[in-house]
Amino acid sequence: FSKREVAQVLAGKKLLITAGPTREELDPVRYITNHSSGKMGYALAEMAMAAGAQVTLVSGPVNISAPKGVELVRVGSALDMHQAVLSRAQSQDIFVAAAAVADYRPASRVDQKIKKTGDNDDMVIELVRNPDILADVAALANKPFCVGFAAETRDLEHYARGKLKRKKLDMICANLVSIPGQGFNVDTNALDVFWKDGGKSLSLASKQQLAVLLVELIAERMAVARQ
Ligand code: CTP
Ligand code: CA
Repeated sequence: FSKREVAQVLAGKKLLITAGPTREELDPVRYITNHSSGKMGYALAEMAMAAGAQVTLVSGPVNISAPKGVELVRVGSALDMHQAVLSRAQSQDIFVAAAAVADYRPASRVDQKIKKTGDNDDMVIELVRNPDILADVAALANKPFCVGFAAETRDLEHYARGKLKRKKLDMICANLVSIPGQGFNVDTNALDVFWKDGGKSLSLASKQQLAVLLVELIAERMAVARQ
């Protein structure tokens, strides 16, 4: 796909993207989170906008600033992110789920700081499952073109294709986070992208470079899907 063809597909298209970690609060001073830096999602937002899309970025807490021209919606927890995304998803052409959403949250958040009690050496935190934002968007009647990510430590293609099918996605970008230089909290990544009847490997590169290639691939697959 040439730059011109990519621009033709994406011009004026509405693209919604999630990025960063979520923060699941236990009490006013503590939370559960993960190592996501938001870099891949922010790079994708920037490159999609450069290609002519109208981009909304729903982001968990990160240390980077949003690319100019992108509409930024800041959220904390997975439930907040779910609400921010589902209230906007119906009117979107493309949804990219790059966020590392916490799968579980504390069963309850208490208003006061949790204190150590008596002489208990152990403490148990009860967790409950968060909703799957991506699967919920992909289940909408008027669903956008849905792109997911899959961070795995083994059996990459097997798990990624499982998620592609189970969540009814159009495309999934998988990476082996067990290999140094790939995935969480670094500037580089390598991705194996899969769709129903094919796939493509994008070798180790900066997240900016990968974002350009991914945006191209999304435009290409959307054009094919429309035929
Ligand atoms: N995702 C989401 N909402 C969740 C969990 C995941 O939108 N509550 C999205 C992620 O943004 C990613 C994709 O689903 O695009 C896959 O996330 P991943 O954590 O790899 O898969 P899970 O389905 O959560 O399975 P597991 O963590 O058990 O491997
Ligand atoms: Ca998960």
